[in-house]
Amino acid sequence: MHIYSVLIIGGGPAGLALAARLHEHTPSATFTDDEHQRYHWLRKHGARIPIKNYRTNVDSLPTPPSTLGSSDCGCDTKAKSGLNEIDMLVLDADGEDWMTRWKRLFTCFGITHLRSPMFFHIDPADRDGLLRYTYERGREGDLLALPGCAGKEVSKHHKKKKMGRVRAKVSQSGPDVDERDRKDYFTPVTDLFERHCESVVERYGLKKGILRQERVVGIEYDWLGVFREEEGGSDDGGEDEEDERKVFRVTTDKGVRYAHVVVLAIGPGNAPTIPQVIGLPTPSSSHEGYSHAMHLKRFPPPHVEAKIRNHAPTNILIVGGGLTSIQLADLAIKRGVSKVWLLMRGSVKVKYFDIDLDWVGKFRNFNQAAFWSADSDEERLQMYLHARNGGSITPRYRKILNEHVATGKISLHTHMTLYSVQYDTDTQTWVPVTTTPPISLSPIDFIVFATGVQSDIEKLSFLDHIRDKYPIEYVGGLPCLNDDLMWNDEVPLFFNGRFAGLRLGPGAPNLVGCRIGAERIAWNVKDALNRVSRGDSEVENGAPDDDKLTEFAAGRRNRFDSLVEVSDP
Ligand SMILES: Cc1cc2nc3c(=O)[nH]c(=O)nc-3n(C[C@H](O)[C@H](O)[C@H](O)COP(=O)(O)OP(=O)(O)OC[C@H]3O[C@@H](n4cnc5c(N)ncnc54)[C@H](O)[C@@H]3O)c2cc1C
Ligand SMILES: NC(=O)c1ccc[n+]([C@@H]2O[C@H](COP(=O)([O-])OP(=O)(O)OC[C@H]3O[C@@H](n4cnc5c(N)ncnc54)[C@H](OP(=O)(O)O)[C@@H]3O)[C@@H](O)[C@H]2O)c1
Repeated sequence: MHIYSVLIIGGGPAGLALAARLHEHTPSATFTDDEHQRYHWLRKHGARIPIKNYRTNVDSLPTPPSTLGSSDCGCDTKAKSGLNEIDMLVLDADGEDWMTRWKRLFTCFGITHLRSPMFFHIDPADRDGLLRYTYERGREGDLLALPGCAGKEVSKHHKKKKMGRVRAKVSQSGPDVDERDRKDYFTPVTDLFERHCESVVERYGLKKGILRQERVVGIEYDWLGVFREEEGGSDDGGEDEEDERKVFRVTTDKGVRYAHVVVLAIGPGNAPTIPQVIGLPTPSSSHEGYSHAMHLKRFPPPHVEAKIRNHAPTNILIVGGGLTSIQLADLAIKRGVSKVWLLMRGSVKVKYFDIDLDWVGKFRNFNQAAFWSADSDEERLQMYLHARNGGSITPRYRKILNEHVATGKISLHTHMTLYSVQYDTDTQTWVPVTTTPPISLSPIDFIVFATGVQSDIEKLSFLDHIRDKYPIEYVGGLPCLNDDLMWNDEVPLFFNGRFAGLRLGPGAPNLVGCRIGAERIAWNVKDALNRVSRGDSEVENGAPDDDKLTEFAAGRRNRFDSLVEVSDP
């Protein structure tokens, strides 16, 4: 019975961000240079100074990991001195490589650029990691500018005045991001982002055997002794003391795994659901006439491609108003579909990113502070929903949509619901198709539901045992985790990404959430593992003193004095 220290479920960006962060000793993604230096200093010399535990208010002597050596202060050596010895396994339902699901969707949807800005990435070493990688590789040409996003800052007063005068939307009353931050407000080419992720995988040695393709179907947390008994005892004869320790038993479609700490990084988690439409047969995934966007493997599907090849007219119906719907509509037209019918239940919402700019730009700290200090999770959920506001498209895709609408290639219908459909297997078309309010539609060859994924923790069947045995509150389908992103103080089941939304804020389902979540979880994973091995961990006093370096790293007195004797390279 092998017990992994950490088992990460999900090999997407959130899982990768955490695996990388657990191998990074000197994360600077969320630290300034000075904090970074101070952090180095504490790691190296902290064993000799008492540090107050903010919870217990007790002074203690920290126990730095025994792997740290005197060379652990240059960025280049960080990965080498990381916690490589963490016994970690990653399970992913979609593939045995990192980000299989992400790559499949980006390829299938033909996405050329990310939607998010440059500081949305998964590199724990550097907040500007993606930018640095871009410049190092000379790939500045692979960045797409976001016109109108950054520029000369306009005062709130001026904005209000302008809004009053022309009754324009806020986004039209001037850029929200200051010119000096312009470097961050580009979006990378898909390949550039993926290469950067690969470089992170390389740097932390996360390639070999760490990830396996297995779908998790059950998670239990109980005494090791109970599991041992259920498994019919163990060959190596476990000690009683060990049996009185709680561990996770994770059941997958391929077997059973044990771990001290489990992290769920499962993205939206639930299977995508399709809105109720009269006449639509179930199940969704295998019907040739329709699909949820997230289940698409090929677009347009083969029978529509065959019609295109024969120069027959083709019609595709897309339901949804998020970026996926427009992306697919544009792709369909580029690939020869004659007409796309686009049905949205609301109006067209245009935003640069999924979340409002004031959660991304310089006011984000203000908003995050309000989020963290909200009185209840209900209040947090409202802020979260308000900042995301359902599905939206980018200004760039608004322009593309307008062009297709102008040429008649896209027939756009807002405030419209698909009411009923009927499939004619002979012609392989949907006819008739009715909507509310009614419009006249041509026979439809294929329907795509680009309606996103509604996440609901209570519907994740593999958490049945945890929910029953360790009940916690849920709000809006999200778990009310503790501040450490843990299920509760007792169960070291951590969440990164979308399901940590009530703690991380509206950016949780995006790349920025993956990175910030990983940062918070990493500290607590180490605490949890320390608790497991309390008593065995060796205290090492760090490297021999180097006064000059200490002075410099601690930022004491004149830091440049301490460099006087450092020879010129
Ligand atoms: C088409 C598309 C484009 C996007 N573009 C951007 C963008 O440009 N910028 C941005 O910030 N965000 C973007 N997003 C949002 C995006 O989903 C997140 O940024 C990112 O994918 C979140 O990573 P994740 O690891 O949390 O989730 P995912 O990428 O969904 O990964 C979750 C992984 O968990 C695995 N998993 C789930 N359940 C189980 C289980 N029971 N057992 C084992 N494994 C399981 C899945 O197989 C999957 O591989 C985009 C989303 C989509 C769909
Ligand atoms: N990088 C890229 O270029 C790129 C491309 C595609 C997608 N993405 C990202 O991928 C993520 C998912 O995007 P998405 O567009 O798939 O999902 P989404 O942003 O969640 O949008 C879902 C859309 O479906 C609508 N909807 C939900 N339930 C519905 C129902 N029952 N009936 C009718 N309409 C319904 C929603 O309407 P409401 O708005 O009214 O809720 C919304 O317009 C987002 O983060 C997006 O930014 C990125």
